[in-house]
Amino acid sequence: MSDSLFNTGPVKDLLGKVSGLDSTAGNERVKKVVQRAVSDICRIIEDLDVSPTEFWTAMSYLTQLGKANEYGLLVPGLGIEHFIDLRLDEIERKAGLQGGTPRTIEGPLYVAGAPLAKGEARLDDGTDHGEVLFMEGKVTDTAGKPIGGAIVDVWHANSLGNYSFFDPTQSAYNLRRRIETDSEGRYRFRSILAVGYGCPPDGPTQKLLNLLGRHGKRPAHIHFFVSAPGYRLLTTQINLAGDEYLYEDFAFATREGLIAEAVRRTDPQMIKARGLDRPFAEIKFDFSLNKSVESVPETVVIRERAKAA
Ligand SMILES: [Fe+2]
Repeated sequence: MSDSLFNTGPVKDLLGKVSGLDSTAGNERVKKVVQRAVSDICRIIEDLDVSPTEFWTAMSYLTQLGKANEYGLLVPGLGIEHFIDLRLDEIERKAGLQGGTPRTIEGPLYVAGAPLAKGEARLDDGTDHGEVLFMEGKVTDTAGKPIGGAIVDVWHANSLGNYSFFDPTQSAYNLRRRIETDSEGRYRFRSILAVGYGCPPDGPTQKLLNLLGRHGKRPAHIHFFVSAPGYRLLTTQINLAGDEYLYEDFAFATREGLIAEAVRRTDPQMIKARGLDRPFAEIKFDFSLNKSVESVPETVVIRERAKAA
């Protein structure tokens, strides 16, 4: 590597100066990360012989990504959000924490502050004519002991693959609720069956995926935050069995232990008992939470999230 510009004294000096290493002011953590990031970018430019036009194309791309508010989409698309999950798994494994429901990515479409219901809720506002879904289950600790008073914060797409708030045609908090489990740890809700969806076809995330020869589709899924005092917050999703993208999720969110079957109920008596006039689907899924441990960092993630006005 003797002909590497990167390893020369002037470049080393430059990288030290750009990240403020010659100053006591500023933030040490930021300096360390910026120094590494800028160094790696310079290394990429040199190693891959990136032309100035290519470089500025990339900068323009990042501007487009920000303007389209799609960082939250590209990050899972590039597997980075899944990698962060794998790191959290590893930290827990090393600390001896195991047995809880697997985590998986949050994605960019959570909206804080959904209405809180006790025990059960209806998530849809009645305007979506998709397949009716009843989902229920329990929240327990890893030994199977029910956790009453846990909060199941659930959100999912409508039958067109769109999320309320981001899709202004839907009512406020449609398909979003927080459900407090009863004394036996049970939750249940009525909704409509979510369908899979894809990245906006003309957006910057899909543009890059096209260049990578990849699709931007997700299988049908339902998102959850499950929390209870004294337990580690679980961020997860269930992915629906049978979906053609189940194992081809562009966001890499499908995991063993998170695949749920939506069972079709066509029996007239069952339909009648539910007060319906057509077949419906049922999902049963239990969540298991690990206890909080002082030596392991909490799983609460602080990130910019949408908030309904
Ligand atoms: Fe989603």
